This record gives sequence, C-alpha cells and structure tokens, in this order.
Amino acid sequence: MCGIVGYTGNKQAQPIVLESLKKLEYRGYDSSGIATREEKLVICKKEGPIANMESVLPKSDSTLAIAHTRWATHGVPSDVNAHPHSNSENTIAVVHNGTIDNYLDIKENLESEGYKFKSNSDSEVLPALITKHYSGNLVEALNKSLEVIQGIFTIAVIHEDHPDEIVAVRNETPLVIGVGNSENYLASDIYAILKYTQQIIYPLDNQIIRLTSKSIEVFDDSLNKVDYEIEEVEKYTEVSEKGGFEHFMLKEIFEQPKALQDSLTELLIDSPLEKLGLNWKIGSISVVACGTSFHAGLVGKYVIEQLTAIPVSVSYSSEFRYAAPVQGVGGLLSSRPLVVLISQSGETADTLAAARVARQQGCHTIAICNVPGSRITREVDGVILTKSGQEIGVAATKTFLTQMQALYALGIHLGFTSGSIDYPQLKMWESEIRKLPSKLTQVLNNSESIKALAAQFVKSKSVFFVGRNINYPLALEGALKLKEISYIHAEGYPAGELKHGPLALLSEDTPVVAIAVQDHTYSKLISNIEEMSARKTPVITIAQKGDELAKKVSDFCFEIPEIDPVLSPFPIAVFMQLLSYYVAHELGTEIDKPRNLAKSVTVE
Ligand code: AGP
Repeated sequence: MCGIVGYTGNKQAQPIVLESLKKLEYRGYDSSGIATREEKLVICKKEGPIANMESVLPKSDSTLAIAHTRWATHGVPSDVNAHPHSNSENTIAVVHNGTIDNYLDIKENLESEGYKFKSNSDSEVLPALITKHYSGNLVEALNKSLEVIQGIFTIAVIHEDHPDEIVAVRNETPLVIGVGNSENYLASDIYAILKYTQQIIYPLDNQIIRLTSKSIEVFDDSLNKVDYEIEEVEKYTEVSEKGGFEHFMLKEIFEQPKALQDSLTELLIDSPLEKLGLNWKIGSISVVACGTSFHAGLVGKYVIEQLTAIPVSVSYSSEFRYAAPVQGVGGLLSSRPLVVLISQSGETADTLAAARVARQQGCHTIAICNVPGSRITREVDGVILTKSGQEIGVAATKTFLTQMQALYALGIHLGFTSGSIDYPQLKMWESEIRKLPSKLTQVLNNSESIKALAAQFVKSKSVFFVGRNINYPLALEGALKLKEISYIHAEGYPAGELKHGPLALLSEDTPVVAIAVQDHTYSKLISNIEEMSARKTPVITIAQKGDELAKKVSDFCFEIPEIDPVLSPFPIAVFMQLLSYYVAHELGTEIDKPRNLAKSVTVE
C-alpha cells in the first residue's frame, strides 16, 4: 500500500528517496511521485511503475525531498491523483498514507472559501488546510490542520520557505524516523531506510516531528517539545535479488526449510511463555488475523485445542473489532483471556485496530510477527518474532509456515505448563518440529510434478479445495493462493460441506483439490472424494506416502512425505503454494505483484 519516504541532509536527496521508494515497491502501488526544493518546489508524479515517473524526473541538486507510492483509495490511479499534492501556489507539498474520512466536508468548506481542487483524492485537502493555517511555522500549521481531520494518516510536508525542513505526523499508520549524521530520514516502512541508518525513532500517534539535516524535534499535540528514544535496530540484509529464481514468490517458497530452521531458535528454547508474560492461567485464547495469517490462526486452533484444554476462537481482525467483548473479560471466566494477533507485516490496519480493542478490553495480547520493530510489536504485551527474512512477494508463503510453527510452539509450551502434556511429549513434539525442514525439502524436490499438474488448471473457471479438521484451513489457504495470483476463482470448503450446496457447481471443468491425510476424518474424506468423482469432477488428492486407496479414488494423487497428520499442514502448504505459482506462471500473471493487492494493507 502507499509508501512514504523523506530525506533532509547534505547530499542530493533525489537519488536517496528514489532508491528508498523502490524498496517499497513490493508493498503494491499504482503511481508514484517526488517533491524536491530547487528555487521553488518541484513536483514530479506519474501513474504506473516508479520507472514511469523516473523517466520524466528533472535533474535535481536539492538536499530536501519527500516521495510517495500511492495505492488508490479515493480517486482512480492517475497522474493528478498521485502524490505529492500541492496547494494552488505550489508552495507546499504533502504526501499522505491512510484516509481522511471527513474530506468531503473539508473540501466543501474550503471550496466555499474559494479554494480550487485539482484531484479527486482525499489527500488534497491537506495542502489546502495547511496553507490556510500557515503563518511562517509549518509545525503550527500542521497542528491546526490536524484539529479538523478525522481519519488515519501518516503525513509528511515540505514548504518552499523551509529549504531544510520536513514536518511529519502519524495517526494509526506507520512512520519511522532514521537518524543520520548531518542528515535525517523518514519512511513509512523501516526497510526503506535501513540501508542508510540503523538508528531509528518510532514516533507515537499525533506527535509532530520536525526534521532538519541537523536536528530532530518531537512535539506533543499542545506543541510542547517531548523527549524521544533512538533505538538501534539489527543490520538488515537487503533482499534485492531473486537468486536465480524467476520470481520472489518462488524463491520464498524454496526458502521455507531455512525459514523454519531460523525461527526454531526463537521458538523452542528455554521458556518462551515467560518471555511472553504468560505466567498465569489462561482461560481462553482468541486468535485474530487477516488473510493467510488468519488461516495460520485456524491451524493453530486445532493444535492448541489438541494440546491443551484451552478453548480457542479465531476471528478476522476486521470482524473482531466490532464483535462482542472477548469471553472472560468482565467476569465471564475466572481466568484471563489471551489474544494472539498474527500479522507477518505487523502493519495491517485491521489487526492493529483489533489489538487496540483487545487491550482496551483488558486482555493480555501477544503478536506473532515477522518484522522486528513493526507497529504491532510495539502495541502488545509479548512478541513471537518469526525469522522468515523479508518477504517480497505479495502472496504470503514462508511467513505462513513460520506463523504456523510459532502457534505449534505456543501450543506445546502451553500444553506442558498447563499439565496437558508431559515432558517426554514436549520433547517428542519439539523433535517432530525440528524434522519439518527436511519434509519440506522433499516436497520441493518434487516441484516438477506439481508444475506438470498445473496445466490441468489453466482453463478452469473455478477450482474447489477441500479438507477436514486441521487441513480445512489448508483448503482455504490453497484457494486464497490460487485466486490471489492466478485470478482463477477458487473456494476452500470443509470436505463434508460440499453436499450441502457447492456440489451443484461441480463438473468436468471444475477440478477439486482434496486433502486426505490419515487422521480420524480419513474415511469420510475418501467418501467425499467418491461423491465428487461421481459428478465427473477431476479430483487431485494430496495424501500421505503409500496411500493406495487415495490413489485409486483420485484422478491424480500427490504424495507428501510420511508425517504425523497434525504436522501435515506444513508440506501441504508447500504443495498449495507451488500449484498456484505454476498455474499463475502458465497464465502469465504478475505473480509477485498481483493486480489490486498490496503487501501491507494499512487501511481498514
Ligand atoms: C496473503 O497471501 C495475502 N497477501 C494477505 O491475505 C495477507 O495474508 C493479509 O493481508 C494479512 O497480512 P499480514 O499478515 O501482514 O497482517
């Protein structure tokens, strides 16, 4: 989604913000722009890839710049709706992430005062308002403007009269400040500036920041100067290469054994529960997440409920926020509820809003997240940091597996501390989890057969994915991956539900991918496959090695390595990812940046 970067210092600003902006491309965007200050402000913005804008960018010696990638919310993607937005005199340039909910009212008022707007973007009210309140001090003008704005935002502003100054603020969307030597940076995503500095300030909501090349000032909403902390973050290994793979997504799928391995240290040593502040009796767990992270949460429910006596509910973040209070708050249960928020990016607006609601309700909150220092890690009581490394492909792959691994680790440790499993069982589970990387490698080594299978899907208008029990969420994830990157309609269903409606849609042109592992639902699943085959539906089954029955009832059977059914979601996820990847590849879609989607979804 939208990205912001800014630089003020002693070097040419344009190449720095351009390079930083390119680091945000993976988040998804539809247009981009840069404002620099020459004699006057110069704004260059274009619809389409950053390269479009770069091709018309005038040469600049400015040491001050702000830049933006836009993901349209109000107004179509176009040059005029792209950021930075300016006022009619072109003395102010503003970049904005988020949404201004009351922009229509503000616009109407300003128009009645004679102001002429150029775009359909909600963000254009910002330069107009700041101009109205400006009398020489940009911090004051922004602060006065904030009094009328409702919404969520990160805003950065420069003014022709202030050749060395950027003023910025955030409310519920990300903003980080990078501290340099006679130069300072700002960005909406830490990855954008980590190449230049590891000294980071994380401003709080509604604090106004004034950056110059030599100073950083932070003000509260009464414009009193406040202290801030500078944190040293880990040096970052830049991911800019596909390492011989055609797409980042494929590279990231193949990185999964390593991602699980790297995350293990964090998850399985010593007593992770103490680190998370979980040294009390947990009455219930609510897992809250979106998209693929939600699917990891569903798998986690099965695991935690199997290993502990703790009931687990799983909600979409966007629904949790408006649902009835978590059970156990307000005296419903004697012990305390725990809310587990899962977000690979740590910046998903819906999940951040849910985290706030959970805390307001008095729940203990922990986050499972892949980005150190991200917003969610700063808003919860405890953090499980997965170590997948940066994920560039919009489709979540390796972060999904490490999220599941984190939930298994949580389940095992909760099971042990609550007495549901004993020490030998704890060790047995840990040892099984340690074997997962090699199981995944076996599936990856078989990728050619999945590639060959993909050809069968490219002409399909619709595909069903079915599973039962712990693999029902994998059916959901298989469908999400396929629709996200191949644009083929797909649905994930509990296998037993097809006969209650969707069976009407099955035909020779509607393949079904069925997950049939040998748990207590196996025989029912086989019957479900037979029901589908009877409708002439091509059935592709994922089964455990040596399962002759599954082979017999299916049109094609992909064998996953021998594995405890409880751990089968890991190799099955790899199959699903590769299948989607190869189908999308055959169809020639933009796999790493699917249309209309963004890596970090920072609006609700
Ligand atoms: C997954 O492939 C999707 N791109 C999307 O559903 C994603 O999982 C969702 O937006 C949640 O993101 P988060 O994990 O960063 O919060």
